[in-house]
Amino acid sequence: MEALKTLFLAIFVVLASALYSANAKIQEHEFVIQATPVKRLCNTHSTITVNGQFPGPTLEVNNGDTLVVKVTNKARYNVTIHWHGIRQMRTGWADGPEFVTQCPIRPGESYTYRFTIQGQEGTLWWHAHSSWLRATVYGALIIHPREGEAYPFTKPKRETPILLGEWWDANPIDVVRQATQTGAAPNTSDAYTINGQPGDLYKCSSQGTTIVPIDSGETNLLRVINAALNQPLFFTVANHKLTVVGADASYLKPFTTNVIMLGPGQTTDVLIQGDQPPTRYYMAARAYQSAQNAPFDNTTTTAILEYKSAPCPTKGSSIKPVMPSLPAYNDTNTVTAFSKSFRSPRKVEVPAEIDDNLFFTIGLGLNNCPKNFNANQCQGPNGTRFTASMNNVSFVLPNNVSILQAHHLGVQGVFTTDFPTQPPVKFDYTGNVSRSLWQPVQGTKVTKLKFGSRVQIVLQDTSIVTPENHPIHLHGYDFYIVAEGFGNFDPNKDTSKFNLVDPPMRNTVAVPVNGWAVIRFVADNPGAWIMHCHLDVHIGWGLATVLLVDNGVGLLQSIEPPPEDLPLC
Ligand code: C2O
Repeated sequence: MEALKTLFLAIFVVLASALYSANAKIQEHEFVIQATPVKRLCNTHSTITVNGQFPGPTLEVNNGDTLVVKVTNKARYNVTIHWHGIRQMRTGWADGPEFVTQCPIRPGESYTYRFTIQGQEGTLWWHAHSSWLRATVYGALIIHPREGEAYPFTKPKRETPILLGEWWDANPIDVVRQATQTGAAPNTSDAYTINGQPGDLYKCSSQGTTIVPIDSGETNLLRVINAALNQPLFFTVANHKLTVVGADASYLKPFTTNVIMLGPGQTTDVLIQGDQPPTRYYMAARAYQSAQNAPFDNTTTTAILEYKSAPCPTKGSSIKPVMPSLPAYNDTNTVTAFSKSFRSPRKVEVPAEIDDNLFFTIGLGLNNCPKNFNANQCQGPNGTRFTASMNNVSFVLPNNVSILQAHHLGVQGVFTTDFPTQPPVKFDYTGNVSRSLWQPVQGTKVTKLKFGSRVQIVLQDTSIVTPENHPIHLHGYDFYIVAEGFGNFDPNKDTSKFNLVDPPMRNTVAVPVNGWAVIRFVADNPGAWIMHCHLDVHIGWGLATVLLVDNGVGLLQSIEPPPEDLPLC
């Protein structure tokens, strides 16, 4: 009887979705991962790109479309591609993080990612999810409303993706390899970029500066993406107000600001009006740096907003664009005011009752030099090695099978399901933490969740080594951010302040420095989903974990079978 019911339900859903998606399209693309000469800051590097393009191709789809992307690896590194923010309902095999949902695509091999965009609209992006390859392997993924449907705001005349990136005057893979050997922090970048170009404030760069057109009286939708590897960034446009209308492919109640901040991984859609004297204005991005005593790239990247109607002598390089002012590097007050402005457009359905109540600390650590290591390998502070953890577990990826494959096939010994639901030791997380708590344990520990479970996760920053604003990203889900605050989260006094009416929905939350954020979601997508800090330097140190969501009842609540070309290790 149950089986029959499931069958009828399956037939019904298939028919209904066939009707509903009458005009949904299947888009096929080919991505060839290859080394390409790219010249920036006066020097040419053999840069890993997609199809020789840097940044990579922009994909534009409508909600409901299916993407089929054949990725062929012609580079000398292992690679995978992740579709950042795509929910991948039942298609976790196409998510991409290496050793979590697939083994890497080896040089010479290929893998085809297939997935359907379901109920998402706005700006996402794609990037490599293997070592530091995403420094140069990334691009925009823009999701328009279904054909015949409209934005919840007046349709802008123009739309421009603004990809903020981070450039090393070196091979980024060598930079991270050196840091892994020495245990020290990796070298900081040499430039930030807008659509791949550093802009006028860097050497040998004014030739290629990105130009963004606008006309008097028209609106331009800027789809801003922080694709930088390790740095949260402020972004602003001289003399123009920014009206924020969406983030991470979810709409927001519009609000107006002079400056936005994006952690790596985050996207923000802003409208700007051509309401200023027609000339040239800089848009600029530079670091928001919340960590203490840590070196960072303090340079500024620019692009030029150019009015089409600008009188001729105003055009061209002779007229210097107007430079905006940016917040101080450590201006946490501006970040707090900005993130407090985020609301969903209307009342939303936030889980009110919670089945899995989780509390995860997030932060750095220092490992004492292991016995078989020499001084060269322990060049972190006072002869240590940098590390990072969640709930005192420093995450280690498997190396011979992915977590999803091991789960699906029942391979034992790849991971354990004992990730702590609470910090194993409670302490004053944002206070002066005893040195004895700075050294996490290593492990491939996951959290099992039942299909349909209503989940709350408190993400609590620690001040170990340094407090820092960590952009925490969860794959396979969008979640509501119901509260944020500073200091230690206190359920007795903070729970009453939760916004369960119109909290914003995102896939990456910038957890306040020396503070906390609370997220809620329903575990309705079976699979192995990595949750990690989107500062790549911290992923390598272990600031990650995996949520393993079981299948529910019947086909429609179960992950699809793995594709035949899924790479093997
Ligand atoms: Cu945008 Cu796991 O990443």
